[in-house]
Amino acid sequence: MKVLVIGSGGREHSLVWKLAQSPKVTELLIAPGNAGTAELGENVDVGAEDIGALLELAQSRSVDLTVVGPEQALVDGISDRFEEAGLKIFGPSANAARVEGSKIWSDDLMTKYGIPTADSQAFSNSVMAIEYGRSKAAGSLVVKADGPAAGKGVLLPDTYDDLDTAVVGMLDHRTFGEASSRLLLAERMSGPEVSVFAFLDGETVSSAVAACDYKRIGEGDSGLNTGGVGSYTPPEFWTEELAARIRTEILEPMAKALVAEKSSYSGVLYAGLMITDTGPRVIEFNCRFGDPECQILMPKLKSDLFDICLAVAEGRLADEPVKWARSAHTFVVMTSEGYPGSYDTGTEITGVDEAAEHGLVVHAGTAIDDSGSLVTSGGRVLGVVGSGESVKDARDAAYEGVSKISFEGAQYRRDIALRAIQD
Ligand code: AMP
Ligand code: GLY
Repeated sequence: MKVLVIGSGGREHSLVWKLAQSPKVTELLIAPGNAGTAELGENVDVGAEDIGALLELAQSRSVDLTVVGPEQALVDGISDRFEEAGLKIFGPSANAARVEGSKIWSDDLMTKYGIPTADSQAFSNSVMAIEYGRSKAAGSLVVKADGPAAGKGVLLPDTYDDLDTAVVGMLDHRTFGEASSRLLLAERMSGPEVSVFAFLDGETVSSAVAACDYKRIGEGDSGLNTGGVGSYTPPEFWTEELAARIRTEILEPMAKALVAEKSSYSGVLYAGLMITDTGPRVIEFNCRFGDPECQILMPKLKSDLFDICLAVAEGRLADEPVKWARSAHTFVVMTSEGYPGSYDTGTEITGVDEAAEHGLVVHAGTAIDDSGSLVTSGGRVLGVVGSGESVKDARDAAYEGVSKISFEGAQYRRDIALRAIQD
């Protein structure tokens, strides 16, 4: 079978790594891919958001199944377009991808079906939003742009002044363009955060898996937000009881709600949750795998990813087992100096083969230059997944691997998964 994977990050490299292990996958195309995916398949120079060109590629190369990594094409309807053309694709329709594409739509759905989340109010008028903000305690609300804003659309103001600035910026100055033409003011929850993933096909929900990610660039969760610089699984607070609650209170009702709203979901659902004093509550849903969570979930997945993706695409997930190993994994991402601000590219990377003796090296912003050397091509460059029986073993392996890789200006956090191994 010929499989096309859409995307170019670490998430996509790990998906390709897992798909390549399936005896049924004979050929892999990646659009556009990175230097890591090029070792496992053929990179094709088509952008991950160019639906027309991706459709043409899938048709001209007789692709049997397309697997979509990032969200934008899903929100823009790539699955609908492929299905209309008779092509099989793993990823939700545009209607279902609204779980990520519109925070207001998603919040309305959760409220209507009693799925636990933060109390929220939607606004398009800044005066009314500010008035509402002032009716609540200072620092008790978060401001969320309705649409996708590259992970930057959530602000947590501590004072009324900061709240006003956030509201005016989003609604009146359109800080995030159309994505902030409407916003949500949501109750600020507290507790540990966890990302939970399950494959969905209508009302069928596969066994779920949990991971924690690190979004800030600096140790101790300081500094600017990033696309994600580390992850580990399992979370130290994960129990069977919590998993069961998340399944019955969040995942299953959500799958049913989406069917009831004629937005039946087919793909992987990513629930970003906060474990509050009153139980697990939804921060947000995403319509895809998380990055950098996917990088640790692929080594944990015992089942054949191709079989699962095809079963989901063909609407027969109920007959397809999804099994997760008990293993622990830690992923540490190496970034370019300056990231998430501006940074240089084209810097040579060495030590990848030595690192691979300790863990799985996952590429993100890498390329091969004209002289055939592996060089940096992005902010998040590459990372190492360590595996073991405990998070401590996995963490030690990941850091051992990372210590073997060098490029000028390389940065990484030293505290990934540290909290999971402390008493
Ligand atoms: P999101 O883009 O929705 O994942 O939000 C980014 C981050 O903002 C989350 O990982 C949380 O740390 C924080 N956040 C979002 N919504 C809330 C909320 N209602 N209460 C507390 N923190 C939140
Ligand atoms: N783990 C963060 C994200 O994928 O959005």
